Amino acid sequence: MNVSPTPNSFRNGPDERGHFGMHGGRFVAETLMPLIHELEAAYNDAKKDPAFKREMTHHLKHYVGRPSPIYFAERLTEEIGGAKIYLKREDLNHTGAHKVNNVLGQIMLARRMGKKRIIAETGAGMHGVATATLCAKFGLECIVYMGAVDIERQRPNMMRMNALGAKVVPVTSGSSTLKDAMNEALRDWVTNVGSTFYCIGTVAGPHPYPAMVRDFQCVIGDEVRVQMQEAEGRLPDSLIACIGGGSNAMGLFHPFLDDASVEIYGVEAAGHGLDKLHAASIAGGRPGVLHGNRTYLLMDKDGQIEEAHSISAGLDYPGIGPEHAWLHDVGRVNFLSATDDEAVEAFQQLCRIEGIIPALESAHALAKVPEIAAKKPKDHLMVVNLSGRGDKDLDSVAARLGGKI
Ligand SMILES: Cc1ncc(COP(=O)(O)O)c(C=O)c1O
Repeated sequence: MNVSPTPNSFRNGPDERGHFGMHGGRFVAETLMPLIHELEAAYNDAKKDPAFKREMTHHLKHYVGRPSPIYFAERLTEEIGGAKIYLKREDLNHTGAHKVNNVLGQIMLARRMGKKRIIAETGAGMHGVATATLCAKFGLECIVYMGAVDIERQRPNMMRMNALGAKVVPVTSGSSTLKDAMNEALRDWVTNVGSTFYCIGTVAGPHPYPAMVRDFQCVIGDEVRVQMQEAEGRLPDSLIACIGGGSNAMGLFHPFLDDASVEIYGVEAAGHGLDKLHAASIAGGRPGVLHGNRTYLLMDKDGQIEEAHSISAGLDYPGIGPEHAWLHDVGRVNFLSATDDEAVEAFQQLCRIEGIIPALESAHALAKVPEIAAKKPKDHLMVVNLSGRGDKDLDSVAARLGGKI
């Protein structure tokens, strides 16, 4: 344990070796270690450079379209009848999700490091689309590993990546989903160490990725602090976001971790149910090592990684970012879960009463809003992270509803 379980600040981690409590770290092949060190040094250098920050801010404003609005969901609030519900509209970013915040940061870092070949893994395809987009913008080669199952359920995103000039490599090993795509990307990285930058899509992987991706996503929570002050004159009382690896959630949560009055909820995918196939690593996993870091993982009794399941390709991952694992251990974040059915119901509800089609991922967060918000007083301010838009999910939802949509 290198980070105290009762720290003065929940925002100080990780330690210099990348540990959040017992989680995180750097479990990689020897061939990758020099690259990881190179990346860490480049990131530390960029963080101190005002020009890097200035350029990021410029592109976030003019290319991504930030700040994304917060929207008071009046009819949802009325229907639920408790807390005042605001949505943070990451779905309105260029490329349609929060993923672009992190990709912009990593691509700018890759440019700084002189890397011309970018690889990425993708589940729902939103991270792949963001990576393909920024590679097109900056004239970089882009290869995206995507599970064959995910290619089927997120076909519109595969077409977007193709149109943007990226090469999408179908992955057919394991369950042909996100975990397997990440395995392939890591294999590519080991093979092409010199030329390649690996752009990871969530707060997972070896140090410094979890902290670096978190830092790039903190723009979400930083904006929410300012926007809620403007809208309501004070901080929100609760925050809620879905968790795949946990990057949209971490981006919203992190700037509020030291505000004791703010309740924080992360929602994992309970798939068919926690006693059946699911993707809820905190609810149903235990600590182990995968993809370069120690964290909660779905494992069988022999320590083999179990298949995860969620209707949502972006949540279909058998692990969770190590900082979330630690925030669970120290009790700062409450982890809940929502089933496929609950997510589809929440998806339909938001379409119907707010005119917003949410990503199925975000619908997991929305699914837990009624049970939390209904118990709160009317002056309770809740912010739900709407991490992405749901155009990509219409086929999946239609299939679930027997073709009726
Ligand atoms: C719209 C959207 N939300 C959430 C996620 C889950 O990722 P994370 O937990 O890193 O935010 C994804 C992943 O693809 C996504 O596309």
